Amino acid sequence: MGDKIDEDKYKGTKPGWENCAKEDFRYLRQKVWEANKGNDEIRELYDDFAVHYKQAALKYGYVGHSNFADVVSDVIIDKTARILDAASGVGMVGEEMKKHGFINIDALDPSKPSIDQSKTLDVYTNFICETLDEHRTQIQDGFYDVVVMSGTLGVPGHATESCLPELIRITKPGGFIILTVTEKGLVVFKDKLDAAIEELTKKGLWEVLETRWIEYMKGEDCEKAMVPIIKVK
Ligand SMILES: C[S@@+](CC[C@H](N)C(=O)[O-])C[C@H]1O[C@@H](n2cnc3c(N)ncnc32)[C@H](O)[C@@H]1O
Repeated sequence: MGDKIDEDKYKGTKPGWENCAKEDFRYLRQKVWEANKGNDEIRELYDDFAVHYKQAALKYGYVGHSNFADVVSDVIIDKTARILDAASGVGMVGEEMKKHGFINIDALDPSKPSIDQSKTLDVYTNFICETLDEHRTQIQDGFYDVVVMSGTLGVPGHATESCLPELIRITKPGGFIILTVTEKGLVVFKDKLDAAIEELTKKGLWEVLETRWIEYMKGEDCEKAMVPIIKVK
């Protein structure tokens, strides 16, 4: 677990992600955690995040994208599967999936600067700048063989359980939904996630095949993440 953040140090200042020190990185991640959906603060954080987050994240112990892609590759044998990287951010998960040989990945994220950043990678085919929640997207029913969603469920102000029916709708019957929820996210989200999983299972819409655990952020307060592997009925 990380040490307590010295909030006083940052009064009246706002460090950037670029070349930030580890304590600044921890402070910025905490601000993302605390920001509310739709407010200017989170938009500003993600604008700057888009260009410099990857460099800082890799420097300070983010391994979730790579470990998550390892799980996806282990479960999804067909590397030509049509995949949606939902909440793709700047494309870190997609980059790792490409290393495993996946060739048919689309990116979806509500942050335009993040989508723009992921366009500079030779990873994704289509780009969708949209939020996932209870609303119906333009994506056709059963369009994807696989939907992966990492690093957003369970983070306050990010995607919630309300998007799960939409993930099911856009996944083809027999296809897979693979998620992450960090240990830190589970503290605030476990009850809602369990209730949503139970409801969707009872309705016969999906089945959780197994849950794996990955190392997510080395030495931080969400060092592990659970990875439910779900089959759409
Ligand atoms: C911590 S980043 C994770 C990005 C990427 N999956 C990764 O692991 O590197 C969280 C992402 O969730 C996105 N996000 C937040 N709320 C969302 C929502 N309701 N639907 C889809 N994406 C959302 C943010 O824009 C941000 O890019």
